[in-house]
Amino acid sequence: MDRPAAVSKITVPLILERKLRGEKISCLTAYDYPTARLVEEAGLDVALVGDSVAQVVLGYDSTIPVTLEEMLHHTRAVRRGLRRALLVADLPYGSFHVGEKETLLAALRLVKEGGAEAVKLEGGQKRAALIRRLVEAEIPVMAHIGLTPQSLNRLGGYTAQGRTVSAANELLADAQAVEDAGAFAVVLEAMPRELALQMTRRLKIPTIGIGAGPDCDGQVLVFHDLVGLSFGPRAKFVRPYADLRGAALQALKQFKTDVEHGAYPTDGESYHWSPSVREQFESDAVRKV
Ligand code: KIV
Repeated sequence: MDRPAAVSKITVPLILERKLRGEKISCLTAYDYPTARLVEEAGLDVALVGDSVAQVVLGYDSTIPVTLEEMLHHTRAVRRGLRRALLVADLPYGSFHVGEKETLLAALRLVKEGGAEAVKLEGGQKRAALIRRLVEAEIPVMAHIGLTPQSLNRLGGYTAQGRTVSAANELLADAQAVEDAGAFAVVLEAMPRELALQMTRRLKIPTIGIGAGPDCDGQVLVFHDLVGLSFGPRAKFVRPYADLRGAALQALKQFKTDVEHGAYPTDGESYHWSPSVREQFESDAVRKV
């Protein structure tokens, strides 16, 4: 008898094993139940509740304003849509900048209340002590270096990092520091392909690239960019695999036209009385006249 294939849950040790086996890791952001279901049904490995939710879902100009409560709200919704994929949730700006205790409490909330299986935080050498502390508390950490969008005010814009030898060396030190601190993977955002390749060769943990070229151990994209549902300018590395914005807009315009012309709904799209109710109503109406 044919049985459905067993769902092999993606775990942190499995993500580490993937690198040893030379198998690429696929990761996509998810922010709610439908996007989580799609990540799951497509068989992607990791669902990241990214703080990019601030921009692509909540309409903020940057990731800076999104709160821990908002991240929790979205993480819970994603949890309800996932079974197999590993659920990683972003620690938002401000939740790990005050002190070790606050960081730990924020991460614990994402795990205990949100159902996250790991957290992600931005920064390299300067976050090493925090990563170590989180790992000590049994919270797996995905690090994030290169272009770190939460550093927008310091960086002055979203530009590729590590383009000079000294900047590249600094990022290599960041990569080594997060691995030494116990991170199980590291996101490399917006950096030269050559630098990402060096990191991927040197590190034992998987590198997950976004705008870091094809040599990383895995790739991550923002859901809305991948399906063509974004409204801002498109980064060089984004490949829209669909045009959901175009398709949705066309559907909405057609709905408007159909409503205005009485073409929606049709009789077939309406509920009806059964013949006996109709008959009874009509004879009652006749009696009342
Ligand atoms: O918030 C996010 O979506 C991210 C990815 C771009 C890696 O951090």
